[in-house]
Amino acid sequence: MSEQRASFSHLGFIIAAAGSAIGLGNIWKFPYITYANNGGSFVLIYLAAVVAIGAPVMMAEILIGRRTSKSPVSAFLELARGVAGGRLWAAVGYLGVATGFVILSYYSVVAGWTVYYFGKCIIWSFQGFTPEVAATLGDQFGAFLGDGTLQISFHAFFMALTMAVILMGVSQGIERVTKVLMPVLFVLLVALCLASALSPGFGEAISFLFSTTSITRDGILEAVGQAFFSLSLGMGAMITYGSYTTRKQSIRRDALMICVLDTVIALMASLVMFSVIFSIPAAERAGTFSASSTILFTTLPRLLYDLPGGALWSPMFYLLVAFAALTSTISLLEVVVSYFIDHLGWRRLRATLVVGLVTTGLGVFAALSLGANEALTSWAPFGEHDAGVFGSLDYLATNWLLPVGGFFIALFAGWFLSERITRDELEAGAGPFRLYWMWRWALRVVCPIAIGWIIFAVIQGKAFN
Ligand code: PHE
Repeated sequence: MSEQRASFSHLGFIIAAAGSAIGLGNIWKFPYITYANNGGSFVLIYLAAVVAIGAPVMMAEILIGRRTSKSPVSAFLELARGVAGGRLWAAVGYLGVATGFVILSYYSVVAGWTVYYFGKCIIWSFQGFTPEVAATLGDQFGAFLGDGTLQISFHAFFMALTMAVILMGVSQGIERVTKVLMPVLFVLLVALCLASALSPGFGEAISFLFSTTSITRDGILEAVGQAFFSLSLGMGAMITYGSYTTRKQSIRRDALMICVLDTVIALMASLVMFSVIFSIPAAERAGTFSASSTILFTTLPRLLYDLPGGALWSPMFYLLVAFAALTSTISLLEVVVSYFIDHLGWRRLRATLVVGLVTTGLGVFAALSLGANEALTSWAPFGEHDAGVFGSLDYLATNWLLPVGGFFIALFAGWFLSERITRDELEAGAGPFRLYWMWRWALRVVCPIAIGWIIFAVIQGKAFN
């Protein structure tokens, strides 16, 4: 027997959806790809992508979910009745379910690192963050990556946390937990921003982020892909959350709010990160930090401990990142679990346990592919650049699954859903939508062209991570 469909309160929906959007994508990925792309112009293109592609697709996803009160597969089946393509559109829903499963399996491994570093910082804060510790951060992180037992344990721990929240259900679990975690995260991040404003690197961080620089074509594509990942678009996470909302609230306002919050948090996280990094005198920088994806764990601890009150900020920072990751992993798991509940009529308990355990299992391969197991580490179905199960899953999701999903969601809402349905949903709880035509054409033309361009680039061999 399927359970009665629960719903979010109004504020609960905004916070839960913002919680899904705000995650490792904002705090871990955004700063390092911004750094890799020279800041300034990359940030500008990213902002343009959020406005022109992210916001319209976000509205489309929430609308599809709310109209049907169903999770992605069932939602497409219902709305595609009488539409060209018919039941084939359900494939977009299935793709979303598969994407949720893939992303969660490796995302939870990185989420586990944040918990591990939270623990490490607590120990460092008490025992002293000595120059010897500081000098060996890179080696310590490398050893941690190669330790299979630790990798699996922290990944499994994070999956267990995620499953516990999902088991409690939509309003008792997701809403209650995100309502506590998100404000705490925001306050912590504001505190960190204030602290970093006092650091010598703050001015340079601001100009790095906000003055225009040169940007490559690849950088532009990367900005668009990052906007999808960061806003949780392209796999039906927002369709699923949208299905738990009521017609009393305005999709336009909510979508806008989620986009703004997600972007502000990414910028704040970058500001903290770069202030800390630029506090090192320029001449010494080359040897002192890595600009790669591991910056969060190999460079940042030392810089955080240099701040006044570092013993307090450091553990707090990793706790914050873990919170942000948790509110994202629960949305990933919910997409998959809700498919089994809505479409196959499973109970929440059974769906959560089965999906959670299978995902944890796939994640084990990712966890062991960071050095612990030779064969898994060197497995490279997509070429050397993304070697290892971990790298391959990330490549598959960011470069293929999300853009392809987003492409079809935009096409469906732009060309196949009637104006009667879309206008009705966008005006419910909000009043007349004067810019409706702009939204419609963004989905019809701007999104398919921009996303099509990414897919084309990927086919030609460019990877975005
Ligand atoms: N948006 C999340 C982040 O920025 C990741 C995510 C992607 C979550 C897709 C759900 C769906 O970390």
